[in-house]
Amino acid sequence: MMKVIKTVHEMQAFSHAQRTGGKRIALVPTMGYLHDGHISLLNEAKKQGDLLVMSLFVNPMQFGPKEDLAKYPRDFARDTMIAERAGTDIIFYPDAQEMYPGPFKTTVYVSDLSDILCGKTRPGHFQGVTTVVAKLFNVILPHTAIFGEKDFQQLVILRRMVKDLNVPVEIIGMPIIREPDGLAMSSRNTYLSVDDRHRAISISKGLSNALDAFHKGVRDDKKLREIVRNDIQSAGLREDYVEVVDETTLQPVHELSHTARIVTAAYAGNVRLIDNMALK
Ligand code: PAF
Repeated sequence: MMKVIKTVHEMQAFSHAQRTGGKRIALVPTMGYLHDGHISLLNEAKKQGDLLVMSLFVNPMQFGPKEDLAKYPRDFARDTMIAERAGTDIIFYPDAQEMYPGPFKTTVYVSDLSDILCGKTRPGHFQGVTTVVAKLFNVILPHTAIFGEKDFQQLVILRRMVKDLNVPVEIIGMPIIREPDGLAMSSRNTYLSVDDRHRAISISKGLSNALDAFHKGVRDDKKLREIVRNDIQSAGLREDYVEVVDETTLQPVHELSHTARIVTAAYAGNVRLIDNMALK
């Protein structure tokens, strides 16, 4: 039977007892509204540990003042059903007061990596993510934690945090899961109007076209970025950025000699979508 734990104290005590009993704990941190992308993370976690904990917490600290915290989609009943079917043992489901009882003064900030790409349009966002993930690690005491590559910058930042702070958690990244037409799965896709949902296909199309060009020998980052830019702009989306970056430093790569990532963010209407592909 799956169990829902709502307090830090109970979660920590439970995890501590499990670790003492020799169990390997795998964590999948989520903000709920689960889709097939999350299910692939849960499936991997099931393989990686003896005890699967999924956290479900819509973290206020990673939302900007003008962002979608209040209207972020929520469906706890459906999420528990999906999590249970995927073999989750524990859902850690704290409320905001439990995670951030005042006064709260400490943050975890991975400099530089948090301020580029999505960090430019979402100041403070990654600091909110690293802070809450550090807290979740301290509460759930996992041996391993699984994240999706859709939020590629988030994954890189969390790997950096764990390395820099010697956090004894193994970070695993899992490939993006896509809709049949190519759109990367995201809880925020539910915000899209019918028209914008259709236009949004241009993002993954653009990235696939750039990857095809790469396979045909194009190594100039400008040309690859142009392909994505043209596709999203002609579909009527507004570009935030299209970059070719190194997979650990997130710095721009101009001469593609080893695997790099082409990463993009674009607005369909007022919905901000992100996607990426490995150039290999
Ligand atoms: O990727 C997410 O859903 C969130 O950023 C995370 C990692 C659960 C932290 O709130």
